Order: sequence, then structure tokens, then C-alpha cells
Amino acid sequence: MKKFLFGVATSSHQIEGDNKYNDWWFYEEKGKYKTRSGKACNSYELYKEDNRLVKSLGCNSYRFSIEWSRIEKSPRVYDDKEIAHYVDMIDHMIELGIEPMVTLHHFTNPIWFELLGGWTKKTNAQYFVDYVRYLLPFLKGKVKYFVTFNEPNTYASSKYLGKVWHPFENNFVKFYQAWINIIHCHRTLYILLKKILPNSMIGFSVQCIKPKISRKRDLWKIIPTRIAAYFSNHFAFSQFSNGYIDFLGAQFYSKLSIKLDFRLVPPVKLSPDLLSPNMIFDQHAKDLLYILKELKDYKLPVIITENGYLGDNDEKRCEYIKNVFEYLDPYIKDNDYLIGYYYWSLLDNYEWGFGFKPKFGLYSVNYENFERTAKPSANVYKEIIKKY
Ligand code: BGC
Repeated sequence: MKKFLFGVATSSHQIEGDNKYNDWWFYEEKGKYKTRSGKACNSYELYKEDNRLVKSLGCNSYRFSIEWSRIEKSPRVYDDKEIAHYVDMIDHMIELGIEPMVTLHHFTNPIWFELLGGWTKKTNAQYFVDYVRYLLPFLKGKVKYFVTFNEPNTYASSKYLGKVWHPFENNFVKFYQAWINIIHCHRTLYILLKKILPNSMIGFSVQCIKPKISRKRDLWKIIPTRIAAYFSNHFAFSQFSNGYIDFLGAQFYSKLSIKLDFRLVPPVKLSPDLLSPNMIFDQHAKDLLYILKELKDYKLPVIITENGYLGDNDEKRCEYIKNVFEYLDPYIKDNDYLIGYYYWSLLDNYEWGFGFKPKFGLYSVNYENFERTAKPSANVYKEIIKKY
């Protein structure tokens, strides 16, 4: 029987620490974000310990990202020592019986790439393609699962629509350019990956939305919410369904409604207010079923590449995880349409502009000595995996 992928997910900038060559660090240093990532969870040094945590959860897979900016600190100069670091990490995972899933791009760019206009400029994509072409032979025979891009919808909207991430703009043209350039780049990477690693399984992940719409007939809310949900859930996947993708990477956290309100800049009111300083989500495990239904028509395997519970209350996290698996159980047993689930996240980590306050982790981290401590939810996840 094929194995269902039970995993946890992380991303380089959120856990590694000292990512001094990427755009996030650059703008953190310039004071554009309230909190700096600093040493984060110090996972760059403690990667073996993290691998062992993944193993102790009973997971058979770990999704993590390779930090492009460490390898290509300046254009077209690749650092083999940094590649060796990731190869080491991957080898250790494999020794432990953990299937690596590599995210090639998880929100961060080398500083020089960002200063060239980042993903809004079509010709820039070639830098990323060349970097991936250089990297892939090192991963041969080691990595099968790839996510080319993590949530470009979140990336493009946070930077160019919602004024959430640098350059804090509200510019639909740039938003669209970044999105579309990333989609085109994914297609190029798909062809490249299949050429160099013919057995690879290649996905692309998007932040999926379940519309939060009460029965009240509020068209200022219903229309923008439905458009945003359609755009998030389908815009990219519909362009790949003719053969540029092996699995759909679905990421889901919260229901959402978007109401147009021209007194605001940008003129939208989100509910829940995902962007409020404390980050608020409206989290129901059952909503994952809605997402799975939404993606059914593509007739492609789905991997939930991220799903997790936001909050300090770990009892609620335990409840949430138990509920998730009650709902997913028939799909897991079937292991045909849904072929994997990755909990976000292994560790409490650097939650981008929100700093270290929002918690998703199965393990808490002492940011002085980087000691990891299992929360009860780690045990809940472990017991669930054991049953399969
Ligand atoms: C991102 C993660 C982030 C998580 C929780 C996802 O959109 O891929 O980087 O930490 O959501 O907000």
C-alpha cells in the first residue's frame, strides 16, 4: 500500500536564524517590521535535533524550505558549502526514515533580487530558474517531493495589495504581475525538475479560502469574498491542470469574509481581522472538507501542505487536531485523492511581521537557549499517526 504522508512543515526564515542575505532580514534591520527574526529557533545549527523531533512524532515526512539567499548571496554566484548544509540535513532525515519535502521558495528572496524588482519583473524569474538548475543535481536520489512556491497569493497580496509586507503597497498591477510571473516560473521549473529528477512529485501551494458568509444579503461582502476565494483557490491550479503539476498543495487556516468599505485604505474590512496585531483566525477543522471538495474537479492528488492551530491555548490545539483527523479519516484510509497532511508547525517560530507572539507549534522554544519542549498537542498528533 502507498504510504500516506504524515508530516510537519516549517520554513527557513521562520526557524533558521541569521538569514542575513534575504530581503526580510534587510527590512527587519531597517526597522520596517516591529520584530527581528534574529536567531529565530536556531534551526540552522539545530537541524539534527529538529529532524529527531519530527521522527519522535512518528511523522514519515518533513516539509522545510531551502533558503535561496544563503546559496546565491550575489547574482549567479552559488555557495556549495551552503548547499552541503542542506544535503547534510536531508541525508540525516533519510537516515531517520523521513521523506523530505522541499519548498524551493517560501516568501524570502535574496536582497539583490528584491532590489531588482523581485517577482514583479518578468525577466527576474530567470535567476531563480538558473539557481534551481544548479541546485537540483545535489538533491538527486534524495528528494522526491517538491513544492516550487509557497502561497504566492499570500506573498503577492501581503506585499502589493494589503500593505502588510515591504514595500507595503496597494497596487493591483504589481500584485497581478508578481502572481503571474510566479505561475509562469512554476511551469518552467516543472519542466526542469522533470528533466533532472524524472521521478519527482511536484506541487505548488496556495492559501485556500473558505468564504465566511452569513445569510444576510450583503452584496458588498458576498461578492468580494466569493471573488477572493475563487481567485485564491483556483487561479493558479486552473492554469496547471493540463500537466504542470503532480499534486495540489492546499494550505488552510481560517474562514474569511472581505467587505468593501471605501472609507478604509485599502478599502476592505476582513473578518476575522487576520491582520490585527494579535492575528485572529476563525478556525474550524471541518472547513478542510470544504477545501477538499473545492479541489475535487482537478482530478489530481491533494496534499494539505499546511494546516495548523493558531493560539496559546494548547488544549484547543489538541481538540483541533483530533477533529481534523476525524474529518480526514476516510480520505486517509482511501489514500487516493488526499495523499498527505503536514501540520504547521513543528515549532513556535517567527511569524513574519507578527514576530514571535502567534503560536502554531507542537513544540515551544526557549528563545534564550533554544530548548524545545513538547506541548500536549505533540503527543496528540503522535497518537493519531500511530493508529494508521
Ligand atoms: C505560511 C506560513 C505562516 C502560516 C501561518 C502560511 O501562510 O506559509 O509561513 O507561518 O501561514 O500564518
